[in-house]
Amino acid sequence: MGVQSILPESELPVTLTATPPVTRPDLMQDQPPIQLKPPLKWAGGKRWLVPHLKPHWENHRHRRYVEPFCGGLAVPLGLQPSYAWLNDNNQHLIEFYRWVQRGLQMEIPVANDRDLYYHYRATFNQNVRDGRQRDKTTSELFYYLNRTCYNGLCRFNRKGEFNVPFGSYKRINYLEDFSPYCQMLDPWRFTTADFESMKLEPDDFVYADPPYDVPFVQYSQYGFNWDDQVRLAKWLASHLGPTIISNQATERIVSLYRQLGYQLHYYTAPRRISCNGDRTPAIEVLALRNI
Ligand SMILES: C[S@@+](CC[C@H](N)C(=O)[O-])C[C@H]1O[C@@H](n2cnc3c(N)ncnc32)[C@H](O)[C@@H]1O
Repeated sequence: MGVQSILPESELPVTLTATPPVTRPDLMQDQPPIQLKPPLKWAGGKRWLVPHLKPHWENHRHRRYVEPFCGGLAVPLGLQPSYAWLNDNNQHLIEFYRWVQRGLQMEIPVANDRDLYYHYRATFNQNVRDGRQRDKTTSELFYYLNRTCYNGLCRFNRKGEFNVPFGSYKRINYLEDFSPYCQMLDPWRFTTADFESMKLEPDDFVYADPPYDVPFVQYSQYGFNWDDQVRLAKWLASHLGPTIISNQATERIVSLYRQLGYQLHYYTAPRRISCNGDRTPAIEVLALRNI
């Protein structure tokens, strides 16, 4: 049974229209609004959801914005909170953002070239083995690998080595100067930890975008399993402030969020269920509490 068949008519998914620009009024007084694109490619990026999250956020923009699975930063760059706590358990990602906060200027030569790619991949893995994850060069290499690898994937083998192949793109635009991001990212706090170790303040606004639940599979991407989905839903059900979770609307996710008293809204995501056959549009759920 598909998830659509279990939804009442009032909960049927909304089909999306074009993404309107999002601006930050407090920065607009003296200068034109800044529209910053996520600097990395990131699986499951939620740029398309920003227009749907924005009306919920607008009533709470005086609060601290907290995102326990911040990934590619698509949502905070869209909502532009003044204060944010952004967490992800991918340490390389967070180290990269910390360098961006400091106005990263790329110094390594970059090119869309297979040999250079594999050379830099080996150098990145050696740096990590040598305990140099926090070095500026390691973050530059991480950026280069993300732009140049296959589909912007971030995948590691059992030894912790980045092992995504070369992407074979016709053209890649590499950023050299990240200083345009400094003003926005400066007041934001970045941490790397499992989400549940975050000590939330009761009035935090939380938007959580965990790895998708994959039906009939115990382990999904990033090793996030069903127990983790339950752990997250329960953790946030006890949060006193406004909370939103987004996820793939599988039957078990819909049932879990309903049981815990979340209010549910559905959207048609701009992606298909699977790239190898099933062309059904994916249905995404937003689960709200205290909004
Ligand atoms: C769907 S992505 C988030 C995408 C993000 N909202 C965006 O728009 O780019 C999920 C993220 O959760 C992170 N993650 C996986 N397990 C985690 C955990 N236990 N605690 C914190 N972050 C985790 C992954 O590294 C990944 O970046």
